[in-house]
Amino acid sequence: MTTTIALFAGSLRKGSFNRALARSLIALAPKELKLEIIEIGDLPLYNQDFDDEGAPPATWTSFRDKVRAVDAVLFITPEYNRSVPAVLKNALDVGSRPYGKSVWGGKPGAVISTSQGALGGFGANHHLRQSLVCLDVAALQQPEAYIGGVNKLFDSGGNLVADDTESFLKTFLSKFAEWIEHNKG
Ligand code: FNR
Repeated sequence: MTTTIALFAGSLRKGSFNRALARSLIALAPKELKLEIIEIGDLPLYNQDFDDEGAPPATWTSFRDKVRAVDAVLFITPEYNRSVPAVLKNALDVGSRPYGKSVWGGKPGAVISTSQGALGGFGANHHLRQSLVCLDVAALQQPEAYIGGVNKLFDSGGNLVADDTESFLKTFLSKFAEWIEHNKG
């Protein structure tokens, strides 16, 4: 049986290391895991008026439909000013409304944070986890994934060239697959 996992990358940058990491995860995933990036860069900033007036932007609706359809969610994010980039927080907010109709609730999830420095985006990782508690996304506890020195892991074509990171990501995916099995509704 195939398990579908939505990937959300917290950077819109063309040369984004987080997007490169998301693509690496897709390439490394075993065949029973179907990973797919759901884009979040075209979602208008959340404004409750659109929902209250019953006329949400089409991009919100299609985003909500896509998230609703997957078995699990995986966030791959840089740290912006010790927190989650606004584009990713906006996607969480859009998916969480209208009130009572959140598309996140009950989905198993996981977080990978990155930085070019040594801290691996720890602040972003845990700010994101704070929101996931509220959204009723059960986030994988172990292994934690704080990827430091992310700018040294890829070649100029965005291909993962660090064997130890590749091995870690395979282990991470395997543990996440077990977590999904134990936590899916
Ligand atoms: C950053 N960056 C950063 N890095 C970090 O380790 N902690 C931080 O708090 C911040 N803050 C921050 C704020 C803003 C507005 C920007 C643009 C950048 C650096 C950031 O992690 C680095 O640029 C990453 O490479 C961004 O990820 P992508 O675009 O490569 O995926």
